[in-house]
Amino acid sequence: MAESSPPTTEAENTDSLLARTVVDQGLATAEDVEACRQTLTGDAAGTTLATALVSRGIVTAKQLERIKAAIEPQKTAQQIPGYQILEKLGAGAMATVFKARQMSLDRMVAIKVLPRKHTNNPQFVQRFYAEGRAAAKLNHPNIVAAYDVGKAGEFHYFVMEYVQGRTVFDDISKNQRYSEREALHIVLQIARALEHAHKAGFIHRDVKPKNIMITKEGTAKLADMGLARAVSDREAAEAEAGKAFGTPYYISPEQIRGEIDIDFRADIYGLGATFYHMVTGQVPYDGPNPSAVMHKHLKAELVPPDHINPTLSSGIGEIIEVCMAKNRKQRYTSTSDLLHDLEAVAKGEAPVQARKKFDFAALENMEREAPDAAVSADSNPGVITAGSPLTSQPLFWLAVGGWAAALLLLVLLLFSLVK
Ligand SMILES: Nc1ncnc2c1ncn2[C@@H]1O[C@H](COP(=O)(O)OP(=O)(O)OP(=O)(O)O)[C@@H](O)[C@H]1O
Ligand SMILES: [Mg+2]
Repeated sequence: MAESSPPTTEAENTDSLLARTVVDQGLATAEDVEACRQTLTGDAAGTTLATALVSRGIVTAKQLERIKAAIEPQKTAQQIPGYQILEKLGAGAMATVFKARQMSLDRMVAIKVLPRKHTNNPQFVQRFYAEGRAAAKLNHPNIVAAYDVGKAGEFHYFVMEYVQGRTVFDDISKNQRYSEREALHIVLQIARALEHAHKAGFIHRDVKPKNIMITKEGTAKLADMGLARAVSDREAAEAEAGKAFGTPYYISPEQIRGEIDIDFRADIYGLGATFYHMVTGQVPYDGPNPSAVMHKHLKAELVPPDHINPTLSSGIGEIIEVCMAKNRKQRYTSTSDLLHDLEAVAKGEAPVQARKKFDFAALENMEREAPDAAVSADSNPGVITAGSPLTSQPLFWLAVGGWAAALLLLVLLLFSLVK
């Protein structure tokens, strides 16, 4: 821990982090920095390397400020007891992730260090710990396991399973589009992860390509389970401002509206949007800024995925469209239903649940657009498809009821006339 370390060690730590960052950022060569370091003497080396870098014109004062802010999470991570920080794995809009060794169990872990700004928000801290503890109870091969949560210095951290591999985002950035088979293989695994989480009462809230990791063996794992809940959906979306492939591309309309009763259907939307991107090479809705994208999630009609990729089998397109229905009532009724459809399509069969949802959506639209049920049901026979018999449609029974009532009235009238 920091308190027990000799001051020179911490200063040396800061020095090497500083030196490495300056070189990594291409501000100076390793030789320049080493030459600068050689000029330093005494035990105040940590501060003087920074000063020397500025006074020699290797970095500006502003650059130094930025570098110091960037290395702060790593300095903090190095203070987490029981873990040895090995390297930085990446950084997202909200946090920095490090690879570390958990000394007690001699295993690799990933540690996510959250930004300082959250420390003073008691609501965040409370949610972060509650969700972290709950997420640690989930145990599924397609979910990145959560191990521990804690606080080091002024930072909160989250310890999780280390996944050696890449993210779906990395793949999309390089190869643009997945083959249908590959995409289905990954989405199926993530749907299984979500089914498990949803049954345990968990909602991920941030399903997107960056949160799907793929191991070398091809196993897909959903990352950040239990983390998204700590930050409001809008805040998370806004933190992505200006970043390509950010949260607003996959966020559900109800999260954009700031609704509070977010349920599993928000994850189904996120997975559908991710699937869309994987098989078309395009995000479902694009725009010049996050609010334009969010507006499209709310209002714009989705370009069917098979219009962009005509080689796509129709079942896949249907699944994606049901997942991405703007009205969550028109999405899958359960994650298990989605899973059944994905499994069916993987076997070359039809997505039965999606087709039921299409019928339901069509009927809902009919009710809205044509209040005269008898006429609309008769004049739109196409919406009542095989697999959903006429007699199972509520509009059919309304029409029958209407005719029966009219007939009864007529009989009564005739009867009274005869009398
Ligand atoms: N458990 C893990 N094992 C290995 N690498 C990980 C792990 N979790 C995250 N990473 C790496 O760290 C990077 C940053 O992750 P983080 O969750 O902070 O941001 P993100 O999901 O990429 O983006 P955003 O902050 O926009 O949601 C990831 O892109 C990934 O490369
Ligand atoms: Mg993430």
